[in-house]
Amino acid sequence: MNHFQRRSGRLHAEQVPLDELARTHGTPLYVYSTATLTRHWKVLERSLRGLRHLTCYAVKANGNLSVLSTLARLGAGFDIVSGGELYRVLQAGGDPRKVVFSGVGKRDDEIAFALGAGVRVLDVESASELARVSVVARRLGVRAPVALRVNPDVDARTHPYISTGLHRNKFGVPAEEALRLYRLAARDPALHVKGAAMHIGSQITEVAPFLDAVKRMLGLVRKLEKEGITLGHLDIGGGLGIPYDASAEPPPTPAVWGAALRKALRGFRGEVLLEPGRVLVGNAGVLLTRVLHVKRNGRRRFVVVDAGMTDLVRPAMYQAFHEIEPVGSPAERQVTCDVVGPICESSDFLAKGRRMPEVAQGDLLCVRSAGAYGFSMSSQYNARPRAAEVLVDGEEALLARRRETYADLVRGEEPARRGGRLGSRRGLR
Ligand code: LLP
Repeated sequence: MNHFQRRSGRLHAEQVPLDELARTHGTPLYVYSTATLTRHWKVLERSLRGLRHLTCYAVKANGNLSVLSTLARLGAGFDIVSGGELYRVLQAGGDPRKVVFSGVGKRDDEIAFALGAGVRVLDVESASELARVSVVARRLGVRAPVALRVNPDVDARTHPYISTGLHRNKFGVPAEEALRLYRLAARDPALHVKGAAMHIGSQITEVAPFLDAVKRMLGLVRKLEKEGITLGHLDIGGGLGIPYDASAEPPPTPAVWGAALRKALRGFRGEVLLEPGRVLVGNAGVLLTRVLHVKRNGRRRFVVVDAGMTDLVRPAMYQAFHEIEPVGSPAERQVTCDVVGPICESSDFLAKGRRMPEVAQGDLLCVRSAGAYGFSMSSQYNARPRAAEVLVDGEEALLARRRETYADLVRGEEPARRGGRLGSRRGLR
């Protein structure tokens, strides 16, 4: 359930008509709904009732400060993968003690930033990284809280680009190596072993892979306990899928998924950490775009809109499906078309061969399920300023990020000057 519904023919975000937002802020425009975000949070928390846990929202899905601060107020922790994401969390008022630092390649300065900020744990993904964390911790005179991210070798049966839990993927360490690294970490005075982590992929539409992976992780926990290494937490990652296509079979609901996990984790005495991203924000956001042209090449009909792969890369990158509908009353006549953006790439499409109501120049379209991995993956390719973002709450709309300007496109750049080697030494410093 989300709060982007049609009333008297017009699509609204909660109480606010989407066409008004587009008129005020221009297009392409991301619109998020506070009520939907809050609802998703509560549904997820309810599904885990009875399980001692901390939900750490995966910032990469949508890092806008308005989204992070809303979730922080609801009690969320955060899963970050860079110093930049930690900066965002702190700016949004998030509690660093509820932050999990994941990621396969952390730089020393990022490790130091996280340790200085007092994050809850660093998820380490290799022997080499464990050594680096130890060096940086010693340099700072602190003890680094660590967990190992284990690659449980489970097939999440999702798109190969967002599958992470198989040995062929770069993520984590195999369980056998994890045992050796835990022994090493337990003896290192600069490290404090806190737990174990896994994350097997994203947009997972079955419960079985989660259960399979959790079972393998619990096996590791038992082996470690026999050696006297007790883990305070088990981080089961994110990855629960969401419905994108109303005509397709929906993924398991959080309630079904949560009940299965609670059962699987019954024997575990520590705290359970989770890192959901998409399930919280995916359907709490839409992308508004205006039709620039309708054209034909032979038999194919193209709807050229002002949002492209720079704004929403998911269709180009993962052949992802996003529902698209007119914000105003849909025409009766249905046509088949490709909805494409203005970028100079043939992969620049939002939908291909889509059956949808006929649209005309100037119409406003709503691209659904764009709250996760939408703006956060956007770029300035083709020198396109990035879109604005609005957060709606009831009747109110907050401009959560202003549209970028042309000046933003060249911020920090220097033209090479004529005369002299690059003109000025200043530019080289
Ligand atoms: N934890 C870790 C360590 C992750 O790598 C990810 C996502 C998550 C949590 C959150 O997963 P979620 O609950 O959102 O599925 N750009 C792709 C998705 C990439 C996911 C990367 N990692 C897409 O648009 O489908």
